[in-house]
Amino acid sequence: MSLVSAKLLTRRQVSKAALGMAAAAGLPKWLRAAQNAMSQSGTNTVGPDSLRAHAAAHGLLYGAAVVPELLDVDGFASGTTSDPYTRLVAEQANILVAENAMKWHRLRPTATTFDFTQADKLMRFAGLAGQRVRGHNLCWHESIPAWFKTTATKDNAKQLLVNHIQTVAGRYRGRIHSWDVVNEAVNPKDGRGDGLRKSPWMELLGPEYLEIAYTTAAQADPDAKLTYNEYGIELDTPEDSAKRAFVLMLLRRFKARGIPIHAVGIQSHLQANGPQPGAGLVAFIRETRAMGLEAYVTEMDVNTHKLQGGPELQDAAVAEVYKNYLGRVLAEPNVLAALTWGITSAHSWINQSKEPWSVRPDGARQRPLPFDDNLQPTPAFFALRNAIDTAKPLTAQPLAAPPAGKPQDLYKPFAVPGSPTTKPQGAS
Ligand code: XIL
Repeated sequence: MSLVSAKLLTRRQVSKAALGMAAAAGLPKWLRAAQNAMSQSGTNTVGPDSLRAHAAAHGLLYGAAVVPELLDVDGFASGTTSDPYTRLVAEQANILVAENAMKWHRLRPTATTFDFTQADKLMRFAGLAGQRVRGHNLCWHESIPAWFKTTATKDNAKQLLVNHIQTVAGRYRGRIHSWDVVNEAVNPKDGRGDGLRKSPWMELLGPEYLEIAYTTAAQADPDAKLTYNEYGIELDTPEDSAKRAFVLMLLRRFKARGIPIHAVGIQSHLQANGPQPGAGLVAFIRETRAMGLEAYVTEMDVNTHKLQGGPELQDAAVAEVYKNYLGRVLAEPNVLAALTWGITSAHSWINQSKEPWSVRPDGARQRPLPFDDNLQPTPAFFALRNAIDTAKPLTAQPLAAPPAGKPQDLYKPFAVPGSPTTKPQGAS
C-alpha cells in the first residue's frame, strides 16, 4: 500500500520547507544544526543513527503507535518488503503499541466473540522486528462496542470485564512489555470526591472495577508491567495539577491495598503554544518513583492547531516542545520508555480528526511527529534523539541495533487463545 496519497505534501514542498527552515532566523542553534543535517543527508537517521539504536544504547525504549493494517508483515518476514511505512516502523522503534487494534471495539465484534486478526498481526511483526509491545488497553470509557450498552448489566459486568482481560491478556501472556490495564479513569470534572470518572464501568461496578481489572490482569499476564495511563496531567495549570493529585491518590490507594500496579503512563498529547509542562510533572514523576513505579511517555505528539505560520514554523515549535519536554522527563531515572502516538504525520490522529482541537485555521496539515507525510525526518526527530542521548534511565543496557539480515519469525501466530511460552530473544 502506498503511503503518499495525493492529499499529502509533495517531496518538493517538504525539501523546500526544510531548506527554508535552515535559513530561518532566530531559531536555536541546535535546531539549525539539526535542520542542516536533515537537508544534507537522508541516511543519518537509520541503523546506528535510528531512534531505536540510540534508545537501546541509553537503556530506553522508543516506540510508536501503529496501524497493523498498514504493515506488510509477510513481506517483512521474507525480507522483501519495499513498503516505506513497514520499513520505517521496523527501523526506528524498539517498542510498538496498537493505536486501536487492541481496544474493546476492535477485539469484540459481539459479546461472546473475539477477533484477534489485527492484534496478532502486530504481535507477529514486533517479534520479527525484535520489538517489545505495549498493550493498550484493557478497560476504558471509550471504544466500547455498541452491543455493550444493551448487554452489560450490574449483574454481568464483572464477568464481562474479567473474561475480556483473561482472554486478551492471557492470549499474549509473556509477550507484552506493559499493559495499560485502565485508561483515563480520573476526571475531576465529574465531581466525585475521589476524582474518578463516571465511566460506564464506574456506573456498573463502582470504583471496585479498578481493583478487578488490575488483579485479573496480574493473574493473566504476571510478567507484564501493569500500567495506569492518563492524559491531562502534564502542565502546571490548575486543571492538570488537580488531576495529577487525584492520579497520585489513586496510585497510593492501589499501593496501600496491595493492588498490583507497576507503572504510570503519561500520555503527553502536548500543544506547541500555551502553557508548557514544568516542575509539577517532574515532582509527580518523582513521587511515582518513590512509590516504586516506572513511568512511560505513552502517546506523545505536539499539536499546532493554534500556532500561526507555515510548516517551518510548525516544525520549529514542535521540535522545541520535544526538546524541552523530553529533556525534562527523560532526566528522571524511572522514565524508561517514550512512545509517540504514530510515527508519521501521514497517519496521525491529529490529521484525521475534524475536531476543533486538531483543525488548523489555515487548513494546513499538522506535523506533530518525528516523521512527516513523506516519511522524512522532521526537526522533532532530532530533538527526540538528542533528548534520548542525555536521558538518565535506571538501568543502562548494551546497544542493540535492529536485527540485520532476514528477520526471524519469533512469534508464530496461534489460532486459539492460550499462553505462549516463548519470549522474543534479543528484543531490544
Ligand atoms: C485514539 C486513536 O488515535 C484514534 O484513531 C481513535 O479514533 C480514538 O483513539 N488517548 C488514548 C488513545 O489513550 O487510545 C487515543 O487514541 C488517543 C487519546
